Amino acid sequence: MDKLLVHGGHTLGGSINISGSKNASLPILAAALLTDSDCIIRRVPDVSDTNYMIQILGALGADVERASGTVRISAQSIADTAPYELVRRMRASVCVMGPLLARLGRAVVSLPGGCIIGDRPIDLHIRGLKALGAQVEIEGGNMIFSAPDGLTGAEIDMRGTHGPTVLGTDNVMMAACLARGTTVIESAATEPEVIDLADFLNSLGAKVSGAGTRRITIEGVDQLGGGEHTVIPDRIEAGTFIAAAALAGDGVRIRRIKQKHLTAITDSLAEAGHRVEFDAAGESCTVRRGDTPCGCNISTAPYPSFPTDMQAQMTALLATSPGISVVRDTIFPQRFMHVAELKRMGANIKVDNGAAIVHGVKKLSAAPVMASDLRASAALVLAALTATGTTEINRLYHIDRGYEHIDEKLLSLGAAVERVRE
Ligand code: EPZ
Repeated sequence: MDKLLVHGGHTLGGSINISGSKNASLPILAAALLTDSDCIIRRVPDVSDTNYMIQILGALGADVERASGTVRISAQSIADTAPYELVRRMRASVCVMGPLLARLGRAVVSLPGGCIIGDRPIDLHIRGLKALGAQVEIEGGNMIFSAPDGLTGAEIDMRGTHGPTVLGTDNVMMAACLARGTTVIESAATEPEVIDLADFLNSLGAKVSGAGTRRITIEGVDQLGGGEHTVIPDRIEAGTFIAAAALAGDGVRIRRIKQKHLTAITDSLAEAGHRVEFDAAGESCTVRRGDTPCGCNISTAPYPSFPTDMQAQMTALLATSPGISVVRDTIFPQRFMHVAELKRMGANIKVDNGAAIVHGVKKLSAAPVMASDLRASAALVLAALTATGTTEINRLYHIDRGYEHIDEKLLSLGAAVERVRE
């Protein structure tokens, strides 16, 4: 298990490129199962979650080649079963459900099990696929979907108690591409990653319209062909580096981004007293630490509101911002595992009923800390950048799930970080 040593107190400068989006890549890779023709997907980040999805596709029988950021998939003959050994390591493996069911009329996918960021049910995915005519049985921890005569288009409302579901919308959208007739998904997730998947599906010959709005319409087709696609920039990696630059930087330039995907994040940083200036095309920005940083209140909610995947990093930033900030997570109200570790570094934060009440302190101090999940570990890295002394972040594999070469990128900006291989 690798760990990261972060020697705090170094000023960040220079520029970095943001990688392709992990959360867009995962369903797009799974969508290649919908066709027996070749798919070429570019800018897939080299992180363990995408490598894991590639392994799953291989285990299902697809030929997959990866050359740097480009993945070529040929899923000519595939199996219908994704067992527990494959699914348990990554919840996003459930994205294979829709494509397998639509292509083969049967899908056996293990229930993904517990997740550190909170209770993450799968009921909406099941509800959506059932509405398309699939029968579902749960047996031995597996979901067994069958639709021997194919799927049929339907009107489906995907809203759950915490709002729309991103991967649930993706699963139903993918399945509906090969269903008979028209499917309308109401209360669809509007995240940019859903739009990117729809664009990829359309490049294969699907007829998806309305992605990015609450109502997505899919006209089913008999079969899909091959296609090529370039994945959108990772807005959460971008947000994380923007926060790092606001904490510890002096004019850091962040390139290969999409401004419109980052509005909620940069608005909150502006409220916390920092400056983010975009170029005219909205494809890069320069971040400057404000002279008088202050606290701010944040409430996570579905896109275009503040993303839950940036909540931990923002909490780390606010830990040393003067004043009191309230950070509420309405999507995953238990996603505050990072707080206990930040407190070990001297932060003054209380978690109460789905919200962190942060009293900004002057300075954090280094400590050995434990990463508990992907974004929590990013929060610890941010905290460590300005802490006094050397912070040791254990269980680095969490951060490697979703941040491409984070240690190299931080080093290139002037941070003093060392990956220690054990
Ligand atoms: C996606 O997960 C992301 N993962 C998550 O990013 C992200 O935190 C999440 O969306 C919310 O934005 C990928 O894209 C691979 P949801 P997803 O279904 O789709 C509830 C990261 O750090 N719900 O949109 O699985 C659920 O409990 C990861 O990169 C149901 O009730 O999340 C939550 O409260 C972690 N029933 C809310 O909906 C369901 O069937 C939204 O979750 C499904 C979800």
